Amino acid sequence: MILVTGGAGYIGSHCVRELQERGMDVVVYDNLVTGHIESVPNGVPFVKGDIFDVELLRQTFRKYGVDSVIHFAAYSLVGESMSNPAKYYHNNVAGTLALLDAMIAEKVGYLVFSSSAATYGDCGNGLITEDSPQNPTSVYGQTKLMMEQFMQDYDKAYGLKYVALRYFNAAGAHRSGEIGEAHNPESHLIPIILQVANGKRDHIGIFGEDYPTPDGTCVRDYIHITDLADAHIRALDYLKQGGKSTHYNLGNGNGFSVKEVIDMTEKVTGLSIKRAIEPRRAGDPATLVASSEKIKRELGWKPQYDSLESIISSAWKWHSSHKNGYDKD
Ligand code: UFG
Repeated sequence: MILVTGGAGYIGSHCVRELQERGMDVVVYDNLVTGHIESVPNGVPFVKGDIFDVELLRQTFRKYGVDSVIHFAAYSLVGESMSNPAKYYHNNVAGTLALLDAMIAEKVGYLVFSSSAATYGDCGNGLITEDSPQNPTSVYGQTKLMMEQFMQDYDKAYGLKYVALRYFNAAGAHRSGEIGEAHNPESHLIPIILQVANGKRDHIGIFGEDYPTPDGTCVRDYIHITDLADAHIRALDYLKQGGKSTHYNLGNGNGFSVKEVIDMTEKVTGLSIKRAIEPRRAGDPATLVASSEKIKRELGWKPQYDSLESIISSAWKWHSSHKNGYDKD
């Protein structure tokens, strides 16, 4: 049985769907602070709980016979992490320590961990490999890096086997049209642009036009949520077959600027998107683009949504039919 923390969140819920579709046993553990109960599929057990609650975690591990954890539960906004670092260190770092305590006490030995491209910081304009230096520019990235470091030490001392997946920018929605991206308030680029397309916002603010990139706006590597989910399942299989703890980047290997993403959204939706230049957002590196060769080579992972157009089309299918996310339209 696999326990998914944050399984009612954006990335977690898509991974749960994928696990369920492949007939794997899964229990969702989520405090519903940012997650949505509506995203938990029928037939999947749900435990409302906090990752700080070691007792509840231990009981849940025993009750369901959990042998592995996929850990998504975390706050994940770069901008907010700069203005409220306490929230991030407390929840992401201390919360993960509590989860690891529960895992070690109950001898749950496999962990797939949701890490981030934000652990790298500014790496220049080249492709980032797993060996690129990790110097986060945001508190959020710093918390993810600290968690990776704990896991390394816990592997050496307690034999915890983990895979840390460093995602670049997750986007898109499930092909069923039943689940998708819904943050409140929304802060991510693609959903905000789609809210402009939906008429829910007047315009998209572009955070900075003076970065050292071809058009001056930040460049990111967008990766479809279903491709991310598939990587988690491969990583877990790998660990269960005796694989050593390791790290993988997950991206498409193509960088798109904020302006290019807006232009592509105009193409996909056929609508004109009003834009305005605003100041830089604290903590944003200029360019983050992945080399994902390692996971392709070692785990046979291959993204199915390999164009920005297919990723934005998938997101638009969800946003155009769920203008208010999981709330009734
Ligand atoms: N941006 C804007 N205007 C907006 C929102 C975003 O210009 O209204 C810009 C940002 O400045 C950034 C880019 O669009 O340059 C993408 O921003 P997102 O907030 O969508 O994503 P981030 O790159 O900040 O962060 C995301 C996840 C993190 C993850 C990171 C890894 O939120 O959890 O990708 O790259 F760590």
